[in-house]
Amino acid sequence: MMPSTDGTKAPVQVAVTGAAGQIGYSLLFRIAAGDLLGDQQPIILRLLEIEPAMKALEGVAMELDDCAFPLLHDIILTSKAEKAFDGASWCLLVGAVPRKQGMERSDLLNVNAGIFGPQGKAIAATAATDVRILVVGNPCNTNCLIARSNAPEIAPERWFAMTRLDENRGKTLLANKAGVPVGVVTNMGIWGNHSTTQYPDARNSKIAGLPTFDVIKDHGWLKGKFIETVQKRGAAVIEARGSSSAASAANAVLDSVKSIVTPTPWGDWHSLAVVSKGEYGIPEGLQFGFPVRSDSWNWEVVQGLEHDGDAQDRIKKSTDELVQERELVKALLPA
Ligand code: NAD
Ligand code: LMR
Repeated sequence: MMPSTDGTKAPVQVAVTGAAGQIGYSLLFRIAAGDLLGDQQPIILRLLEIEPAMKALEGVAMELDDCAFPLLHDIILTSKAEKAFDGASWCLLVGAVPRKQGMERSDLLNVNAGIFGPQGKAIAATAATDVRILVVGNPCNTNCLIARSNAPEIAPERWFAMTRLDENRGKTLLANKAGVPVGVVTNMGIWGNHSTTQYPDARNSKIAGLPTFDVIKDHGWLKGKFIETVQKRGAAVIEARGSSSAASAANAVLDSVKSIVTPTPWGDWHSLAVVSKGEYGIPEGLQFGFPVRSDSWNWEVVQGLEHDGDAQDRIKKSTDELVQERELVKALLPA
């Protein structure tokens, strides 16, 4: 990053869609405080909302102003996607309808999928040449596929969908079961779709450097209740709170970006849904949850992990679901 004329770093432009929503309200203040790109990196926030939410967005911007965040150099509010993404190095695509109790995330495809083709095109038209994109709005894997497919000018490796909240949920469950602090749980991979078919991979995870299956002796729990609890945690939060996860989702956005822009600690990995290049037999082009390592710019899917028959069946189920979702939105995917 070039220094600006006053000797500080030049600001990075960060676009956030759905900025007046629940996740936005938790996310923006933490970005402005330095929790996304570090406490030395000035930020310009470019906030996109639909027209009816612009007044609420103005209120959010007033509150951001009232925090006097030293790193926040400017705030742009707009209902035009091209303007929101103009010059942005990070596009955080949060804006989309959340599910209500009793729905699956895939039920949102009808409502939300149409948002992502135009946003993909707008990103390709106006974003910075180093742009990277994280899709949060559900169903996030397939929404990301739609946006990415509508922006062929941008390398497929720049697109991510968020499975980090599932990773964090899995880590906490394992830590609580083992009676250890969550910080010692590592290598928690989420495979497949951010949906109830996802496979949270405890088998390859570690607790204080040891295989989780050596530390937690209740293998029945690891192979059953643990997986089901992570898969259904989003619905459990909706049932308890009356609306979907927001602060934990915002936290997972920050964790996702940090794990992309920071070299992954030796031997560890993080969960991101990235474009499949056929790793582990997953069809090419799907936006698939994998364990990923980053060198701060380039990333790679972790190779050589082993899956027993049950894990293979679960990953196949999630793959089939993503293939089916892709089929459902094929009219939104340019040939
Ligand atoms: P919300 O309803 O509180 O906020 C969504 C905001 O998006 C609203 O302000 C709305 O006006 C705006 N919006 C709608 N269409 C838009 C468009 N075309 N352009 C810009 N903005 C638009 O919802 P929320 O709780 O903030 O959740 C947002 C999305 O994130 C939902 O789809 C939810 O399911 C998803 N989510 C994903 C994860 C994950 O782990 N991937 C976690 C939590 C929530
Ligand atoms: C979550 O996992 O909490 C989000 O995807 C919201 C939801 O609909 O479950």
